[in-house]
Amino acid sequence: MTCKYRCGDACFHEIPNTSDNPTFREVVNARVSRRNALKAGGLSAAVLGLASLGTAAPAAAAPKNPGGGLFTAIAPTPRTVDNVTVPGGFTWEPIISWGDPITTEAPEFDFWNQSADAQQVQAGYNADYVTLIRNGNGGNKAVLVFNNEYTNDELMFEVGGSDELTDEQLRIIMAAHGMTVVNVRRQNKHEAWEYVRSGASNRRIHTWTPFTVDGPAAGHEAMRTSQDPTGALVLGTLNNCAGGVTPWGTVLSGEENFNQYFDTTGAPDPDQKLARYGLTSGGRGWERVEDRFHVATEPHEVNRFGWIVEVDPSDPTSTPVKHTALGRFKHEGANVIIADSGHVVAYMGDDERHDYIYKFVSKNKHRKGNGHREHNKALLSEGDLYVAKFVGDGMEDGEWDGTGSWLPLVVDGTSHVPGWTVEEVLIWTRQAADLVGPTKMDRPEDVEPNLTNGRIYAALTNNSQRVDLDEANPRLGNKHGHVIEMSEDGNDHTGLTFHWRIVLLAGDPSDPSAYFLGYDREDVSPISCPDNVAFDPQGNLWISTDGQPGTLGNSDGLYLYPVRGREAGHLQQFLSVPVGAECCGPYIDLDDNTVLAAVQHPGEVSGASPANPVSTYPYSGHGQPRPGVFHAFRPRKPRPPRGGHRG
Ligand code: FEO
Ligand code: CA
Ligand code: CA
Repeated sequence: MTCKYRCGDACFHEIPNTSDNPTFREVVNARVSRRNALKAGGLSAAVLGLASLGTAAPAAAAPKNPGGGLFTAIAPTPRTVDNVTVPGGFTWEPIISWGDPITTEAPEFDFWNQSADAQQVQAGYNADYVTLIRNGNGGNKAVLVFNNEYTNDELMFEVGGSDELTDEQLRIIMAAHGMTVVNVRRQNKHEAWEYVRSGASNRRIHTWTPFTVDGPAAGHEAMRTSQDPTGALVLGTLNNCAGGVTPWGTVLSGEENFNQYFDTTGAPDPDQKLARYGLTSGGRGWERVEDRFHVATEPHEVNRFGWIVEVDPSDPTSTPVKHTALGRFKHEGANVIIADSGHVVAYMGDDERHDYIYKFVSKNKHRKGNGHREHNKALLSEGDLYVAKFVGDGMEDGEWDGTGSWLPLVVDGTSHVPGWTVEEVLIWTRQAADLVGPTKMDRPEDVEPNLTNGRIYAALTNNSQRVDLDEANPRLGNKHGHVIEMSEDGNDHTGLTFHWRIVLLAGDPSDPSAYFLGYDREDVSPISCPDNVAFDPQGNLWISTDGQPGTLGNSDGLYLYPVRGREAGHLQQFLSVPVGAECCGPYIDLDDNTVLAAVQHPGEVSGASPANPVSTYPYSGHGQPRPGVFHAFRPRKPRPPRGGHRG
C-alpha cells in the first residue's frame, strides 16, 4: 500500500535516469576517493556503508544524555504505537484533519457517506508541507496552509483496489488532492491553535481548480490540449509534496509523483519523454472519469503537471500559478532566499533515485514593501535555471566534502543545452539536465536555505540502488539517507560555484556507517530517511522523516539537529507520529510555543482497510484514520492531550 500510493511504486520501476552521468572522470574520482577512504586512518569500509547492505540495524535505544536545553529528547517510539509522542512538559492537539468542513455550509465529515461535492469544501487528505503565515495577523491569529499530496484509496473506501472504485469515489479522491488554506486562532500562547470554520481565507484547491501557466513554456505546443488550446490554463495540481513560503507571503508547492495519475496504455514514447518521468505503468483509474488522464487520448495533459505552483493565501479568489521557468520534474518543493543582489533564488530537489538538485535565479529583483507584492509575485516567472554537480575532494581529510558547480540549463533566455530550445529544456528538464553532466543524487527531497546564514540543506532520503559511490553519495544501497550542507562561494546565491559537506549520515547511532558530526553517539537519537527540513527563527535545523518503520523499526518523527557550535551533531528527537504515518510539515517556533506537523497516511500498513483499521488517529479509542495537522506545545499546566477529535 505504501509503495503504490506514496510514490506510484517508484521503487518497483526501473530508475528512469538511464543517462551515463556521472562522467567517467567522476567515477574515477569516486573510486580514488573510496580507495583513499579505505586507507585513511579510522575510516573503514563500514564507514562507507559497505557493511550496512542488507543488514538490519540493532534495536534503537534512547539517547543516554538527551539534554540540549530546549526539550528532553523522546526515546524512539516502536512503530506499532498509534499515538503522537511529545517530550515531557509538552502536549498536542489536532488542529484539522481530513474531511473537516472549511465553510459554514460544508457538510460535517461522514466517513461512510462521502461525496465529491462535500470533499471540495472539506480539508484534503495526506498533508505533506505545513506552514503558518503570521504577517499582519497578530500573535493569536494566522493562516494555516498545507498540501494534500495523495490519498490512501483503500483506507478511504472499503474496496479491494483501484479497479473497484466507483466513478463517484474517484471524484472524491480527486477532490481530496491539492491544498487546503484555513484561518487559525488560539486564545493565548499556552493554548492550542484551532481552525476557524468560517475563516475568510479558507479555501480548497483540488483537481478542478484552474491554474494559470506562466513563464517561457506557457502556451507551447506541448502544453496545449483539446480542453485548453491556449496551453496556459490547467485544471488542478497533483501530488503536492514539500513547499516553502516566499518573502512576499505566497506559498510554493512542488508537484511530485504526478506520473501515477496517468494511464499510458497505448501511448507511443519514441524518445522516452514518458519513461524518463516514470510514466511506464497504468494509472490509478482516473482516466475512467476524465479522458485527460489517458495519455494516448490526451497526450499533452501530462506535460501540465510536474511544476512548482505558487498560491497566494491572502486572497482566496486568486488564481494560482504554475511556473514553467523553474523546470518540470518530480518537484519535491521549492524554497527561496533573496540574494545580496536582490535576485530571488529558489533551491529545488527532484525526488527520484539518481536525479538532481536544481536552482533558479530570478531575472528581476525583489522589492521591499507590501506595495510591491504584484511585482514580487512575478519574480518566479522569468530567470535562469541550473543543475548541481558535486565533486569530492577525497577522504584524506576524513570528511565527505568538496566543491560544486551550478551547470547552466537556461541563462538570459537562452538554452545552454545543445540542440534544445528553452521551452524544451523547461518541459523535459530531466532529459535536458542529463545532457550537461550533473551528479546523480540519492533522492533529493527538501532543499532549503537557512535564512539566518545562507547555507542550504538538502535531504537525500535514501537510495536502495546506489552502487556507484561518490563523496556526496557515499553509501552503497543507501538505506538511511543523509543530509548535505551547501555554501555558495562568497555567499553569492546567484553564483556558479559552492562548497558542500555531509552533515548527517542517518542511521542508528550504533551503526558505524552513521555520522553525527563526531558527537558522542550515546547521546544522539536514531534517525532514518530524512525528508522535510525546516529552520526555526533562531536558524536551528529540524528534520522530519519518512520510512523509519521499515528501516529502524521505529515510528517516523521530528528531530532537532544542531550543525554548528558545541552542540553540533547532537541529534534529538522531538516527537513521533502514529503507526503507519510519516511525519511531515514541519513548522517550528518554540519561542511562540508552536510546533506544527502533519500525520500523513496514519494506518498505512499492508492489509489495513476500513473494516480493519490499524490507526485511529486523531481519535482516541476507535474510528477511521484521518490524516491531518496537529499542534505540539507546552500548556501552562501539564496536561494530557485532549482525547478524540474536534473539528
Ligand atoms: Fe512526497 Fe519526496 O516525498
Ligand atoms: Ca573530503
Ligand atoms: Ca517529502
